[in-house]
Amino acid sequence: MKVLVIGSGGREHTLVWKISQSPRVEKIYCAPGNAGIGNMAELVNIRAEDIELLLSFALEKEIDLTVVGPETPLVEGIVDRFMEEGLRIFGPNKKCAQLEGSKAFAKDFMVRHNIPTARYKEYTNMDEAISDIGIYGFPMVIKADGLAAGKGVIIAQNEKEALEALNMIMRDRKFGDAGIKVVIEEFIDGVEASILCFVDGETIVPMVSAQDYKKAFDGDKGPNTGGMGTYSPSVIYKGDIKEKAHNKVLKPFAQGIKADGLNYRGILFIGFMIKDGEPKVLEFNTRFGDPETQVVLSRLETDLVEIIEAILEGRLRDQDIRWSNKKAVCVILASHGYPEKYEKGKAIKGLESIKESIVFHGGTRLQDGRIVTNGGRVLGVVVTADTINMAREIVYRDIDKIDFEGKQYRKDIGEIALG
Ligand code: AMP
Ligand code: GLY
Repeated sequence: MKVLVIGSGGREHTLVWKISQSPRVEKIYCAPGNAGIGNMAELVNIRAEDIELLLSFALEKEIDLTVVGPETPLVEGIVDRFMEEGLRIFGPNKKCAQLEGSKAFAKDFMVRHNIPTARYKEYTNMDEAISDIGIYGFPMVIKADGLAAGKGVIIAQNEKEALEALNMIMRDRKFGDAGIKVVIEEFIDGVEASILCFVDGETIVPMVSAQDYKKAFDGDKGPNTGGMGTYSPSVIYKGDIKEKAHNKVLKPFAQGIKADGLNYRGILFIGFMIKDGEPKVLEFNTRFGDPETQVVLSRLETDLVEIIEAILEGRLRDQDIRWSNKKAVCVILASHGYPEKYEKGKAIKGLESIKESIVFHGGTRLQDGRIVTNGGRVLGVVVTADTINMAREIVYRDIDKIDFEGKQYRKDIGEIALG
């Protein structure tokens, strides 16, 4: 089988790594990929958003299965286009991807199907939004409706900040058309947790849990990032909370997509806020999380391609899915300055000396035969071991062997799970 993976981050490197272990797969292409992915797959110089070019490539090379990493092509309908041409592709179609692509669509879905979430209202008229500033008190959560590369959620502490946020999103269109509509939400304080699930239109099967560290610096300080590290399983998503999440969210989700005629096939990422032992849904993403994927797929024992085929054929219910009991840790090495301004093109040294960890590349590229940094999140160093302590020890030992100018990482990933 010939497989095409779309995307260029650590998530996609992990997908390529896992797919390459499948005995069914003869050849993997990745568009556009990165330097690390280039060691396992043939890189194709097409952007993840260029649906028509990707489609011509897949037709020309007779790709048997396309796996989509990032959200933008999903929301823009890559799955519908590939299916129209008779190609097999893994991910939700355009309608279903609205669960990530429109906050208002997702909130409406949750409310109609009794999935616990924060109270909200949606606005296309800016004056109405302004006159509702503070309706749920402060802090006030303001969200651009559409995709905004993870930057479209603003927690305003007071009236002035709320006004600034509304001006930025709705008047100045900082996030373009994503700001035509906004959602205003009640603020819930609590602990965040997330879970990835396989969904085949009928059946929803959660994967092992992982906890993501979103803040840039140790002790959850600094700005929000795409994720600075993960460990699995999560010490938060278990027991009573896990059971409540399954009964109050996963089950109603599966019933909801059927009731709405949404043939949702792919990955569902559910972001929860847990307060007083009650999980509420903050968001849905319609794809694998990055860097959750790095630890979760490291623990998957079953052939991922087999699971994907079961999903595409609607037989997830009967699919055996096995997980390792080992614990996994992923620490992200970022560029100095990330998530704000950072430099690219710094030579990365020491990768060849890493024997025990797996290093998944996020933002790297080849330049004159050398691997250099090419993004904010550069590498993800991953270890699975019998205990979190052991995994952390190896990860941090190996991180010392990798060097690039401005290397920045958190030293407390998985600390919360230490025995
Ligand atoms: P979202 O993309 O909707 O998950 O929002 C991004 C981040 O904003 C979340 O991971 C939370 O940290 C925060 N957030 C979103 N909605 C709320 C809310 N209703 N209450 C508190 N924090 C929130
Ligand atoms: N790590 C969070 C995300 O992938 O959205």
